[in-house]
Amino acid sequence: MTAYDIIMKKRRGGELSEDEIRFMTEGFVKDDIPDYQMSALLMAICFNGMTPSETAALTSAMVNSGDTYSPSAELGRICVDKHSTGGIGDKLTLIAAPICAACGVYIPKMSGRGLGHTGGTIDKLESIPGLKTSLTHSEFISVVKEAGFAVSGQTGTLVPADKKIYALRNATATVDSIPLICSSIMSKKLATGAEGIVIDVKVGDGAFMKNYDDALRLADSMIKVAKLSGRKCSAVLTDMEKPLGMAVGNAVEVIEAAEALKGNAPADLYELSIAISAEMLSLAGKGSPDECTELAKEALSSGRALAALEKMVSLQGGNPEALHDYSLLGVPSDVREVVSETDGYITGISCEKTGLIALSLGAGRQFKNGDIDPTAGIIFNKTVGSYVHKGEVLGKLLTSSKRDMDAAERDFRKLFRISDTSPEKRPAVLKIIRS
Ligand code: URA
Repeated sequence: MTAYDIIMKKRRGGELSEDEIRFMTEGFVKDDIPDYQMSALLMAICFNGMTPSETAALTSAMVNSGDTYSPSAELGRICVDKHSTGGIGDKLTLIAAPICAACGVYIPKMSGRGLGHTGGTIDKLESIPGLKTSLTHSEFISVVKEAGFAVSGQTGTLVPADKKIYALRNATATVDSIPLICSSIMSKKLATGAEGIVIDVKVGDGAFMKNYDDALRLADSMIKVAKLSGRKCSAVLTDMEKPLGMAVGNAVEVIEAAEALKGNAPADLYELSIAISAEMLSLAGKGSPDECTELAKEALSSGRALAALEKMVSLQGGNPEALHDYSLLGVPSDVREVVSETDGYITGISCEKTGLIALSLGAGRQFKNGDIDPTAGIIFNKTVGSYVHKGEVLGKLLTSSKRDMDAAERDFRKLFRISDTSPEKRPAVLKIIRS
């Protein structure tokens, strides 16, 4: 077996065997296969796709490249996980995980940092002073036991194949491939060991999947891989044509999540938080999706979900008071209000560009391993469907870094599409697919 023959086979549209896929993945992790041969294979996969068995074999080879966990065996209870394919203003983990924990379901959650224009839960959580996201395995398990959920960053030994392949995909224009996204996400979910997995597949301008049909194909492929590994999986296709909620950044998203847990969520964030939580609870065997919707609503309205978040923050070393006295999250030194220059209905807000403005204010990394400004971000005052009068505030730009506020203001104004007629309402949840 040679890398050359395997690349040629895929290039000609052939189906790779499990052995061939394992040979390439293991060889690449051990540095026996050079970057240029792996890149050629990735490009051939981008052009010719993969069959469901090939995608499953790639996912399993990636899982086996590092450590795997069985949290349910350690905790003596079924565990459920969620993952988003990446979006703007997506603070759902900070709401859905405490809701599920408050309903007695364990959520051992490994989360990521911001990627490109999209935000990451770990960066958001680190805006809480003192909170540790790098936990040993036993610390992680003990927080889950006490708070019902824990959130930790990816360790170096969890799916090292994904780390290496992802870096290569980023540099070779091969990110945007359904089997490669599926294996990247599912390998991490399978390695962390939860029996039930809810995938939030974002669709639209701010997502990797820009159109509905591609998102459906990605969801289908993830569910197939989960099934083959004996896991239960639901995919929730959710709207990313506009940012989720009203806040985009790090501390501002922690504040919006805390407010949501106090009963003050914007409509789209509330709808999605309940829908994702209900799917997670249902996979944990708490009842039908309808029954779990009621459980989720009750956990939120009773304040039990907020209490679960406070407990997790405190156990991970953070100050839970910061979920009430928001000045403890830091106060941005520079705040710019942007007002509308026209009257009309807001019919759209460019989503990917919103992420790029937040990044330019310091909310994301401009360079690998760059610093994050936790106070930086955007707070919208108006959203899609709102009527805005000339001179009314559209939103606020926040930063504590030395950034070009004039440029950010110009770009922010261009995000809004304003018209005389009100737009049709788009639901936040577009479709739910259950395995
Ligand atoms: N998130 C991941 O972890 N991997 C991808 O390929 C895309 C989004």
